[in-house]
Amino acid sequence: MNQQAERQKSKQVCVSGQQYLCIEKSPLLAGEAQIHGAKNAVLVMMAATILADGVSELHNVPDSADVHQMIKVLECLGAAIVFETSKNHLIIDTRSLISCTVPAELMKKMRASVLVMGPLLARFGRVVIAQPGGCSIGARPVNFHMQNFRSLGASVDVFGESVCADTKHLQGTRIVLEYPSVGATENALMAATLAKGTTHIINAALEPEVVNLIEMLQKMGAAIEVKAPNTIEVEGVTTLKAVSLNVIPDRLEAGSLLLAAAITGGSISLPTARPDHLDVFLLKLQQMGHTIERGQNNVGISLQATDRPQAVSFTTAQYPGFPTDLQAPLMAALCLAQGESIIHEAVFENRLIHVKELQKMGADISVHGDRAIVRGVKKLIGCNVQASDIRASCALVLAGLAAQGTTHVFGVHHWKRGYQNLEEKLVRLGADIRLKTTH
Ligand code: EPZ
Repeated sequence: MNQQAERQKSKQVCVSGQQYLCIEKSPLLAGEAQIHGAKNAVLVMMAATILADGVSELHNVPDSADVHQMIKVLECLGAAIVFETSKNHLIIDTRSLISCTVPAELMKKMRASVLVMGPLLARFGRVVIAQPGGCSIGARPVNFHMQNFRSLGASVDVFGESVCADTKHLQGTRIVLEYPSVGATENALMAATLAKGTTHIINAALEPEVVNLIEMLQKMGAAIEVKAPNTIEVEGVTTLKAVSLNVIPDRLEAGSLLLAAAITGGSISLPTARPDHLDVFLLKLQQMGHTIERGQNNVGISLQATDRPQAVSFTTAQYPGFPTDLQAPLMAALCLAQGESIIHEAVFENRLIHVKELQKMGADISVHGDRAIVRGVKKLIGCNVQASDIRASCALVLAGLAAQGTTHVFGVHHWKRGYQNLEEKLVRLGADIRLKTTH
């Protein structure tokens, strides 16, 4: 076979090896599910281990693609890592760190790698990373991160695709965030823990995942106080110690499972979920007509679906507002609610891409700038759809559970980035969903 034919065949091979989620219309889901650790907490906590010279242990770590990607980044810096996936237990030894450079191929794979900048600057006074790219939901600039490092006394220079930051020592200062960026708050906070003097981070993000990081840093010996309104005060110390800590349950996985029960008219109990991490989201489910029960001491959530879900409107915002990461999943459920819902995506500039995939399934949605108007329809029809990001993949799976016929969701790598075997949890609740490969 000549070279061109070989290349053509290999292309066919790679297309035929494509994984996808095959979802049939499912009966009402019912039962109980456990929640894995939060992706958006564990990634930054893994980066924070760089701040200490020792062996840190994280528990309830999800066995997801993004965690494995962050392991690669830390190993590239010289850390020694053991991930006992069967126990969701991660051990990170940072005594052998030898590099402060994150190469482009790792940065491009996961932009959250930018979260190693603050710890590397704080511990070694130097870091070189490739510019983290944008993604489908937006340009995802890191200007706030760099601005904060400069405010803390680092020089930050861009050389082509690379960003290089260095400092003799970081100096505590007053940082005011023009927008409460989660990542920029986390990077500044980690850098400030080893700076000389006091740092005030004003208009800080205080998502549950940021608070989990603060708990970890305090346990490591950092002097951090959270003050109203949304101010984090950090008194720099000279060293931090390695620790062992639990990762909080993933409120985004919990929200997805609640919606799976809601969209199929079923019921579900999540004994380890934290309702205080999802107040506004739970309020929207109640406004739709679903019955929500909260466990004692803010642990545990259960849902009994209504058979006549009503339309609701919401705007995404920083915590405790409606979480942007549950915007697409709730939109899927609103496609089958009675009435008109207005969804305003106010956090990311391009996070309505999943609309066109839902429209392919028969949803009645119109987009006007950063707003989507969803008019409930009687049914959705299964078809082939393409996920564009982690939360869009969840929305399309939810729509597939309720749609007539079969839905194939492509872009499974997004699903695997954000969740550990969520499809298996759905099967245990009664869903008809399988991971398949095209032949
Ligand atoms: C974190 O991203 C999460 N990722 C996102 O989850 C989440 O959607 C987001 O916070 C908002 O809650 C992780 O924690 C790993 P931001 P982050 O900085 O920190 C703009 C998922 O699906 N901005 O709060 O990148 C930015 O463009 C992911 O799990 C700047 O302009 O979010 C966006 O419009 C998606 N300049 C807004 O702020 C900056 O320097 C919020 O971004 C930084 C951010």
